[in-house]
Amino acid sequence: MARMATKQRKPARGRFITFEGGEGSGKSTQIRKLAERLEAAHVATLVTREPGGTPGAEALRHVVLSGMGKLIGVELESLLFAAARDDHVHRVIAPALAAGTWVLCDRFADSTRVYQGILGQVDPHLLDALERVTIGDLKPDLTLVLDLPADVGLSRAAARRGTGAADRFEAEGAPFHERLRQAYLQIARDNPERCVVIDATGTPDDVADRIWTTVRERLAPPSERATKANAKTRANARTKARAGA
Ligand SMILES: Nc1ncnc2c1ncn2[C@@H]1O[C@H](COP(=O)(O)OP(=O)(O)O)[C@@H](O)[C@H]1O
Ligand SMILES: [Mg+2]
Repeated sequence: MARMATKQRKPARGRFITFEGGEGSGKSTQIRKLAERLEAAHVATLVTREPGGTPGAEALRHVVLSGMGKLIGVELESLLFAAARDDHVHRVIAPALAAGTWVLCDRFADSTRVYQGILGQVDPHLLDALERVTIGDLKPDLTLVLDLPADVGLSRAAARRGTGAADRFEAEGAPFHERLRQAYLQIARDNPERCVVIDATGTPDDVADRIWTTVRERLAPPSERATKANAKTRANARTKARAGA
């Protein structure tokens, strides 16, 4: 008995939610808003991003976003992304999920599929192999694909940047971003059990409401599960009371 009492209960695994979509679609804005809502619902939450999320991976982020791919080729660039992801998954994401924390990640494997795979034409077999090594079976429980017409996203990204220099993805034209949009939509169609396309037009609060509805439907955050369970128990108790049980 005493041993039972001191035994630590393992926390339920956290949920893994990724945010995907083009530049300026609102990923960084919405990830903060979802984290606030989850925390208000007493869900421990970690916000992170790719490439990045650890000191080593953030250093690689500078390298890849500086346009290194143009020098070393898109295959080697994919290896750098994979190295960053491996560090991030093993040092940050997996331990947090195991501790019961919900992990919200700004871009993940779908961005690799879109930018390196579809736009960069890296062999999908290479990307499959890299995914097996870096991610294994740590698939997101939910991927929110923020969908926005390319020109709206680009003008939002330009407004965010102000007078600073455009990064290499922002520097590409609207047709590139429209292809990118279609590539994300295709991934969402191919993975309906994991992906939900979110209409990213409207105010940040409109989009946050759509996301919250989806998260509740798909993942039922713990306090809500508890509330539902309590409601069910109360309903059962009432039924029994009426039946004279
Ligand atoms: N729903 C929205 N309507 C108008 N502007 C937005 C909206 N969501 C985000 N923004 C603004 O657009 C810019 C890009 O948003 P951000 O969240 O950084 O997108 P991403 O991370 O997908 O590139 C930011 O300046 C942000 O404040
Ligand atoms: Mg962002």
